[in-house]
Amino acid sequence: MSEKPVYKRYTVTSALPYANGPIHIGHLAGVYVPADIYVRFLRMNGEDVIFIGGSDEHGVPITIKAMQQGVSPQDIVDQYHGIIKKSFEDFGISFDIYSRTSNKMHQETASAFFRKMYEAGQFIEKVSEQYFDEATGQFLADRYITGTCPHCSFEKAYGDQCEKCGTSLNATDLIAPKSVLSGNKPVLRETRHWFLPLDVYEPWLREWILEGHKDDWKINVYGQCKSWIDQGLQPRAVTRDLDWGVKVPVEGAEGKVLYVWFDAPIGYISATRELTPDWEKYWKDKETKLVHFIGKDNIVFHCIIFPAMLKAEGTYILPDNVPANEFLNLEGDKISTSRNWAVWLHEYLEAFPGKQDVLRYVLTSAAPETKDNDFTWKDFQTRNNSELVAILGNFINRTIVLTHKYFDGKVPPVAEYTAIDKTTMEEMRQFPVRIAQSIQNYRFREALAEMMNLARLGNKYLTDNEPWKVFMNDPVRVGTVLNVSLQICAQLSIVAEPFLPFSAAKIRHTLHLDLMSWQEASSLTWLTAGHQLEQPELLFQLIGDGPIEAQVQKLMDTRIANEALQDKAPVKPGKAAIGFEDFAKADIRVGTILEAEKVAKTDKLLRLKIDTGLDQRTVVSGIAKYFAPEEIIGKRVCVLINLEARKLKGIESQGMILMAENPDGTLFFVTPGDGAMNGADVK
Ligand code: MF3
Ligand code: ZN
Repeated sequence: MSEKPVYKRYTVTSALPYANGPIHIGHLAGVYVPADIYVRFLRMNGEDVIFIGGSDEHGVPITIKAMQQGVSPQDIVDQYHGIIKKSFEDFGISFDIYSRTSNKMHQETASAFFRKMYEAGQFIEKVSEQYFDEATGQFLADRYITGTCPHCSFEKAYGDQCEKCGTSLNATDLIAPKSVLSGNKPVLRETRHWFLPLDVYEPWLREWILEGHKDDWKINVYGQCKSWIDQGLQPRAVTRDLDWGVKVPVEGAEGKVLYVWFDAPIGYISATRELTPDWEKYWKDKETKLVHFIGKDNIVFHCIIFPAMLKAEGTYILPDNVPANEFLNLEGDKISTSRNWAVWLHEYLEAFPGKQDVLRYVLTSAAPETKDNDFTWKDFQTRNNSELVAILGNFINRTIVLTHKYFDGKVPPVAEYTAIDKTTMEEMRQFPVRIAQSIQNYRFREALAEMMNLARLGNKYLTDNEPWKVFMNDPVRVGTVLNVSLQICAQLSIVAEPFLPFSAAKIRHTLHLDLMSWQEASSLTWLTAGHQLEQPELLFQLIGDGPIEAQVQKLMDTRIANEALQDKAPVKPGKAAIGFEDFAKADIRVGTILEAEKVAKTDKLLRLKIDTGLDQRTVVSGIAKYFAPEEIIGKRVCVLINLEARKLKGIESQGMILMAENPDGTLFFVTPGDGAMNGADVK
């Protein structure tokens, strides 16, 4: 086991979200709220800490979205970067900088990083076979390709990763690969790329992670790393044939960019450079503690690939910890952007304006720290009503109201501490220490529960001492009771700050207190006798059944819409591209159906006589199930007339009528517009 280093400062990063959609509760619960709690706590401890965030603006999901919407990738990221940044601000995620990877500083930083490794000969340059879509004439990087995962058999794995089992893949590992662009089976074609030889780092990774971090990394994180390393690490391509990303900064690499997972984590460094000229001490000084907050699908990139890059580059520190969370589900189902199964932050705020802390509270209580966890609206309501309102809000409110009632809103003096006062204060003293320990060990649920226990202690103290009954006979005793209660309120305003920053600020405002350091939270006499309080502010409000049912209904509507979509057969995928000459070979003419009759001994076929403008000819057509002969006589149609004649049920068919077929098999004539004469050329 390695010795625990002593740290002077902290660099805390949170995964850079892809700028191709808004942020939902899963993001918040898994990454940003825990990171924010950690950072706010460190700042209150007087630590030198920077908190880095930003948008991940490269990668194939963004180019696919741009293609679908007919706009440029830059348009997509501009739009979502703004939306995401605002959501984080709204929820009090206190980044020191929220940057983006399409900016110039990042292009330069990522380029330089690659070049340094390139010049030190740390890549393998290799011509290899990659999937290529012949229909669209392009290489299919990463998410441009889907297929079956070789590890878990999930049918919709991507070319770079299986989202079901979390395994990181190479496109050529996929079983039954399919192009996302055309739906076709891709072919293999040769192309030159640069590979990071992860196998070279295997012994070092074994020692650094499997031995060095056996005891301090979370079990889920350690376990994933171990299984990765034990499976044997392979060289991984860090460049792609794409035109959206950081250009590969070497000669002969036109049309190639850095793999998004190569450039994105360097984004943490670029953002720090943007934040401060003094950036190097946050990345290169061994006395800096680097912590990455991420979701479990990011583990391999932050624990294996990025550290291997940092190690290879040679001048950087490595993460001290990577406290990855598992996933948050929603009402029993996996959160999914494509199925719109999510609670989007901007929509939450429309439904529950001003209730950021309620969501922060619920998401921390239900945080998927050790296993996947479920968010339900019912639980949201219960935690708000019976915890935030009934315990925390109630305690603070009662204390302030009573102080105004009996002592004009001035902190009353202590006459004499009784035994119960002394034990209460002894218990109080321990909370900040315990909460700090939980936070330092990345156990935020536990820390939050302790914070709530402090409010419970306050409630119990008030209830046991019944100041509202005692006042008549012994107002001096009530003064002491409220003094102690107010000190608990003050302590709560400090220890609630990392979790519930908006409410903690309100409590401090009511108490007329400035934010204090964490160390001061253990002292018990911030409020001196005579200190004037403000009127109480509403901290939390009961949430009734109406708004909760509305949210549940919204999700049920989504589920019904999704099921309806699934029932509908999908539209057939497109076919491979053809040249104009191929199309021009087909001789299609406008014609009129002159005669129609059923072909004997079949229920599918009709024998038609058609005036093609050139001649009158017989066509046998498989449309009898959909059309009665008498209803189509006189119908104007398009006919493929140079199709080789063939015999159907003994009748020679001299062409084919153009029909449109829906995914469910229903048929419709392709009819020429008014004025098109028989014999008109369809092209
Ligand atoms: N964009 C990635 C995701 O949402 C996370 C990137 S984290 C970084 O899964 F380190 F690469 F930036
Ligand atoms: Zn899988």
